[in-house]
Amino acid sequence: MTLSLQPAHEHPIPALADLMTRSFEGYFVPVNITEAAMHTMLRHDGIDLTASRVLMKDDQPIGLALIARRGWTSRLAAMGLTSNARNGGVGTWAMEQLIEEAKSRGEKEMVLEVIEQNTAGVKLYEKVGFKKIRRLVGYKLENPQSDAAHNLEEIDIRDLARQVTYHGMKDLPWQLSGATIMQYTPPARAYRLNDAYCLISNPDAADVAIHSVLVKARSRGAGLSGVLMRALFAKFPGKVWHVSPIYPEEMGFIFEHVGMERETISQWQMSRAL
Ligand SMILES: CC(C)(COP(=O)(O)OP(=O)(O)OC[C@H]1O[C@@H](n2cnc3c(N)ncnc32)[C@H](O)[C@@H]1OP(=O)(O)O)[C@@H](O)C(=O)NCCC(=O)NCCS
Repeated sequence: MTLSLQPAHEHPIPALADLMTRSFEGYFVPVNITEAAMHTMLRHDGIDLTASRVLMKDDQPIGLALIARRGWTSRLAAMGLTSNARNGGVGTWAMEQLIEEAKSRGEKEMVLEVIEQNTAGVKLYEKVGFKKIRRLVGYKLENPQSDAAHNLEEIDIRDLARQVTYHGMKDLPWQLSGATIMQYTPPARAYRLNDAYCLISNPDAADVAIHSVLVKARSRGAGLSGVLMRALFAKFPGKVWHVSPIYPEEMGFIFEHVGMERETISQWQMSRAL
């Protein structure tokens, strides 16, 4: 048996989508990647297929590692093995190769997020030198009642992304960073109320995700984010609101203040110096 890594760009996108689906079989949340979903993920998250790798056992693909890159930092955007290839040291071997490759590209840091309840994943990343930065949490709220009528201004998503880059925490998780927010397009929508900003997924759907919440530094501590979220609940009534578990735990109180309930799945934001 010989293990090897092949550049992901040498494989067609539908084959990568299928391999990703198989590599996350039995995962904590259902993963079913279509060709279109794969393209969206590549664009949103800045994934570089020339640096991403298909894991091969002899001539069979047995796993996938997607690597996103921005400046000196890369992110392990996805890492999975087909179920028969797990728990035999392949994950450890692959991570060691990926870290060496990142070093040889001249990068200084590799980051990732892993579901806290995923024992194998957390063990693997700690074993190859990743350190926990913080816990990331998510929330949900069904059909909130709110009559908080406010004059919400709809703004270009690019303007929100600029504000996040300028006012947001410097080590925000990749998916909350201004650079990722910049990639969102309609039907997602961005709103502003004074110094508070929010990005939501298509509000015509029954389920709406809150992709970003920001209050400018000078206006923090006055509950403005809650005023904005309640105004959104009133503007789009009868929805199920979701916050995926990518928000720093220290920000969680803003969702609790508007009555949202914490999801059971949480993640570790991790980093490894190279
Ligand atoms: C997570 C994953 C990539 C790990 O790869 P792997 O080849 O199974 O991991 P390894 O065999 O190299 O083992 C790494 C460590 O985890 C432990 N481990 C592996 N499977 C485990 C399990 N099911 N439960 C508990 N520990 C486990 C191993 O014992 C080893 O620790 P040790 O060196 O202290 O003994 C693989 O299990 C997988 O593809 N899972 C599904 C997708 C996924 O969860 N991806 C990570 C999302 S970020």
